[in-house]
Amino acid sequence: MNISQALSFVLILTASSFADDPRTVFERRILPILNSPKPSSCAECHLSGVDLKDYLRPDPTETFVALRDAGLIDVKKPKESKLLTFIRRKPEKTSLIPASVREEELAAFSAWIEAAAADPKFRDAKQKVTTTGPKVPVEVVRHGRSDQVLASFVEHIWSESLRCAACHSPRLNKEQVKKHGERISWIVPEDPAATLQKLLDQGLIDLEKPTQSPILLKPTLQVEHGGGQKMLIGDRSYKQFLAFIEDYAASAQGQYRAARDLPAPLAEVGRATDIWFKLTDVPESFDKLLLQVDVYRTDASQPGGWSRDRWATGDRAVFGKGKLWQQHLTVTAPRNSQRAKDLAAKPMLPPGKYRVVVSVDRTGRLAKNPQETVNEQDHVATFEIESQWPTGYGAMTAAKMPALRQ
Ligand code: HEC
Ligand code: HEC
Repeated sequence: MNISQALSFVLILTASSFADDPRTVFERRILPILNSPKPSSCAECHLSGVDLKDYLRPDPTETFVALRDAGLIDVKKPKESKLLTFIRRKPEKTSLIPASVREEELAAFSAWIEAAAADPKFRDAKQKVTTTGPKVPVEVVRHGRSDQVLASFVEHIWSESLRCAACHSPRLNKEQVKKHGERISWIVPEDPAATLQKLLDQGLIDLEKPTQSPILLKPTLQVEHGGGQKMLIGDRSYKQFLAFIEDYAASAQGQYRAARDLPAPLAEVGRATDIWFKLTDVPESFDKLLLQVDVYRTDASQPGGWSRDRWATGDRAVFGKGKLWQQHLTVTAPRNSQRAKDLAAKPMLPPGKYRVVVSVDRTGRLAKNPQETVNEQDHVATFEIESQWPTGYGAMTAAKMPALRQ
């Protein structure tokens, strides 16, 4: 062995014995993760509620004991430690977090856990058991999971985006793109996750002030909108959009601390359809007011002969001069009911006899407070109708609005 070979041999020896010392590994490779302002790889699937940092403390022995006692480090089979399986998890399509972040975390934690599990000072350390992991209850961790967030996005926004697709989906908006540029295409066809990401990236969702989100300001004409008025403050779409944005913001900012802070799921599920409904002879005095139609089906088992829950709904501003109201219907069902399942597979209204209840927000109550819903006092007409409920704008079901109830 010549001198330079001997030297490199010594260097390798010291480097590897250094690298194997659990304390050194912890200081060099784990502490930087704890102190980094950047999100860990967990953020890709957990919008909030849990982060790798939640499992770390500045002291290596304390960190180890807490993880070991919580069953997250397996001292006998360190490679199979549960914490490593958490880190190994990756979504099919990774986008938010560079792959290198996960690889570095995995390499660092594997090295440290293996070294520490082999070192009696760590493996057999006896200390008062301390807690480790998420600081919020499991309900909050679940609520903040990306798959849950995405399901909520689909229910609240994606399901309504049919109303916006003609101008905002790249499949349908070639002309608008020529005039307004690519950013008009905020819908990614058949990809709600990418659509949500796009809305966030383009700043169309305002997490600080949800009601100031361009996705609400534009279609309600609170600011100029190339597509004109597509929503009213307080209507169904508005409520659903706002509920999602508020929930997303609260989650992303870690505002949920307990299960009771979480919003209740919607009692009703809805699917937009291409079934159109038109009311003629609408009083001109209702011009620009929010008119809501609720549709009930015949049901002999119910006292009045009509279903207790509505089967469809639609709401939109009245066109006073034309004495006209028209809108596509959203079919609805109580959450978890058989009909809810049927609607998810095929959104439709069976042909037959229905009862139509018309309500108008005459006092502008919903516009002032979007949390409000129409009630008995807003009912202006009730009538029966029979329809096949065909789809398509050209095959619209029409009805004459009866004289006002006094
Ligand atoms: C690929 C997506 C994905 C990644 C990345 C991910 N998780 Fe999860 N996590 C999930 C899913 C899905 C569940 C719920 C189902 C399950 O437990 O298998 C879950 C559940 C959990 C739970 C249990 C909560 C409960 O419901 O009981 C904890 C704790 C957790 N993850 C921590 C982490 C940590 C820490 C990281 C980062 C090191 C991480 N996860 C990375 C998808 C992921
Ligand atoms: C008839 C066509 C049309 C429809 C339908 C339409 N829009 Fe638009 N929208 C436009 C045009 C044109 C623009 C670009 C000019 C502008 O910014 O106002 C636009 C811009 C926007 C923008 C700003 C996009 C950006 O990043 O610059 C948002 C947000 C938006 N619309 C939301 C909606 C929502 C939500 C709906 C459905 C409820 C909707 N629009 C329905 C035509 C439409």
